[in-house]
Amino acid sequence: MSLGAPLPHDAAHLHVTGSARYVDDIPCPQGTLHLAFGLSPAAHGEILGLDLNAVRAAPGVVAVIGPADLDPMPDCSPSIHDEPLLAQGRVHYAGQPMFLVVAENHLAARRAARLGRPDIRPLSAILTVDQALAAGSHFEGGPVIWEKGCAAAAIAAAVRSVEGRIEIGGQEHFYLEGQAALALPQEGGEMHIHASTQHPTEVQHKVADALGLPMGAVRVEVRRMGGAFGGKESQANALAIACAVAARATGRPCKMRYDRDDDMVITGKRHDLRIDYRAGFDSDGRLTGVEFRHLLRCGWSQDLSLPVADRAMLHVDNAYFLPAVRIESHRLRTNTQSATAFRGFGGPQGMLGIERVMDHVAFALGRDPLDVRRVNFYRGVGAVGDAPGDAPGRCPGPRDISARMKEGAGGLLVESAGAAPRGVQTTPYHMPVEDFVADAMVAALAKRADYAGRRAEIAEWNRGATVLKRGIALTPVKFGISFTLTWLNQAGALVHVYQDGSVQVNHGGTEMGQGLFRKVAQVAADEFGLPIGAVRITATDTGKVPNTSATAASSGSDLNGMAVRAACEVLRGRMAGMLAARHQAEVADVIFADGRVRVAGADYGFAEVAAMAYQARVSLSATGHYRTPKIVWDREKGCGRPFLYFAYGVAVSEVVIDRLTGENRILRVDILHDTGASLNPAIDIGQIEGGFVQGAGWLTMEELVWDDQGRLRTHAPSTYKIPACSDRPDVFNVDLWDQPNREDTVGRSKAVGEPPFMLGISVLMAVSDAVAACGDGSVYPGLDAPATPERVLMAVRRQGG
Ligand code: MTE
Ligand code: MOS
Repeated sequence: MSLGAPLPHDAAHLHVTGSARYVDDIPCPQGTLHLAFGLSPAAHGEILGLDLNAVRAAPGVVAVIGPADLDPMPDCSPSIHDEPLLAQGRVHYAGQPMFLVVAENHLAARRAARLGRPDIRPLSAILTVDQALAAGSHFEGGPVIWEKGCAAAAIAAAVRSVEGRIEIGGQEHFYLEGQAALALPQEGGEMHIHASTQHPTEVQHKVADALGLPMGAVRVEVRRMGGAFGGKESQANALAIACAVAARATGRPCKMRYDRDDDMVITGKRHDLRIDYRAGFDSDGRLTGVEFRHLLRCGWSQDLSLPVADRAMLHVDNAYFLPAVRIESHRLRTNTQSATAFRGFGGPQGMLGIERVMDHVAFALGRDPLDVRRVNFYRGVGAVGDAPGDAPGRCPGPRDISARMKEGAGGLLVESAGAAPRGVQTTPYHMPVEDFVADAMVAALAKRADYAGRRAEIAEWNRGATVLKRGIALTPVKFGISFTLTWLNQAGALVHVYQDGSVQVNHGGTEMGQGLFRKVAQVAADEFGLPIGAVRITATDTGKVPNTSATAASSGSDLNGMAVRAACEVLRGRMAGMLAARHQAEVADVIFADGRVRVAGADYGFAEVAAMAYQARVSLSATGHYRTPKIVWDREKGCGRPFLYFAYGVAVSEVVIDRLTGENRILRVDILHDTGASLNPAIDIGQIEGGFVQGAGWLTMEELVWDDQGRLRTHAPSTYKIPACSDRPDVFNVDLWDQPNREDTVGRSKAVGEPPFMLGISVLMAVSDAVAACGDGSVYPGLDAPATPERVLMAVRRQGG
């Protein structure tokens, strides 16, 4: 059985020996040209002129393409038509591509790209949240508001309340392999693209549009990415389109890869945001009402900002039942890079709001934050008792949810999505939480990590410490699995069995290091009863499986694993049918196991059966398709069941800070993470460790700085620090909560790509705990993220330290 086996990544050996092939490693055909963008130096301005003479005259330059050379201007946007390949009329951020250099080699292209002389009349730039709010610079015309019950009334009536603000920084993806594409022009104007993209179908679509071709005339292939993390969901489009346009213009293959600085300056990052909150609670810390205001800096174009902001709203509850809640989400258009998908897709930002509230409430009551978290948890799967489902809303009108789109555009009140089953609590968007296991996981982990004992020990230690202070925190994660755009929740597969018994599997998912190909191969091997080595997964190819979704939302193995299984079932059925007829047996009596096929006392090798089937003229190629059941979602109303299920996790982090310098380190981390019945525990643990470290990096060290002209000052590893090996905790225990998914997913597993990222929130909360230990308990630390040494030091100062 290969399902559930802790097998290494299929390319592990290739990765570590440097022989894994990425776009830039593909041997280029003779005559390949190399591309670079000339970038806007200004954040906002009117383009009065663009002198490209020096660029054209530069050594090695073959062609220079400016906005005037492209009619119509190709569009790169994944959502609406608002991203011209090259700036037209105006520039909207510092770093926006203005022209395209086509040269004999990479360096010549880059050197020439510096020689453009744009004449730009500066316009006032909207750079900050406050500037955007003052200018009313919203996508969709205004904020999106979802409400359940009446939070304002609940807070007013509450015994206690807190209010506050947290500023949360963005994050650079820092995939090791930068953005890259290669376009190979074919006969008849067709185009073959190799791209480092999570979304081959979208690249195909956008290239076809740019060239005025039908999608069927464009083929996009992706063998693997050297990391993506959401940064190659939409931001890969521009390079592929540029290569295709230049390949058409010159008739030669064209390749483009961003140098690291260009990559950081041109492409979008995680949305930074400000969250304002108000919460009412009782003397146990049980929340009665919460209000959140999200102010997201979305950058110059819409990109994926609306669904990202939606997912932030969908995670304001995290693991807690909120009887009354109001969320106001501002998607602010600013003159900066277009913020985009990044692991968690807004979920981490939304979740951080409520975790901050938990921490603040606990501080106000002088309680252990874990106790406050516990009293607010959703009722668990095993819970008994007669507590009602939802508390009735206090507002007049519909009993439960009242949601409005766009303030000022006329309120649209909607009816409740229907009563939840008795005793089951619902989320702010009315989905019953039927699979809640975080309470049980917290109990198990708190015990395993000796949370209570260590908290007492740390308090004791802190009393004696003068320079160093330690802190500890436990935070849970509940993350919704499915794309919120319902139709994306489908996948296709193409499986071939060759006459020698070898199996080739193709599906719509892309490999970015997360181990998707290995997991899907395990599914196929399991279906055919073959050893894992017998199954080969080939590059993702729009010519093999069409109309795919981005590999995103952690749903890669859920969707593609099911599609591949469906295709394998068809093939197995055909092979079994052939054998059953030959042996006068039932199809169900044909058993595929251990690389053998057995029926009615006969025992064949799998390859033998493949050859027999071929000779019997049985088709050995099949497609498979899967669509996620049960999900319904109305984003305008903020109501429905957007997720098939939730993935859970819990982390306890212990940190130490230096009150004189603000430096901080993670000392110990204990994680219990819910992967359902894991398809591959080795890969899953890798995802959990990597996700956690990336989340901790976001909240403690990775800092993006723009200057007052809107120029990104942190655009290389010299100024932007991601966690290094030496930053990992000395003690790092990761265990799996190995319980099967209650929903019928592939092998009853759960998605694992994004959820562990949010376990990093425990580190910020532990740092906050250590800061609080510097004071007398009267001033809430109110730590912003990332908690860099500077911010920690300022927070310590506010404690009177
Ligand atoms: N793991 C590695 N090694 N590299 C990546 O780029 N991306 C993450 C996660 N884990 C990523 C990763 C993100 S943002 C997502 S959505 C999922 O993997 C996508 O893959 P999956 O759906 O197969 O889990
Ligand atoms: Mo992941 S942010 O959904 O690519």
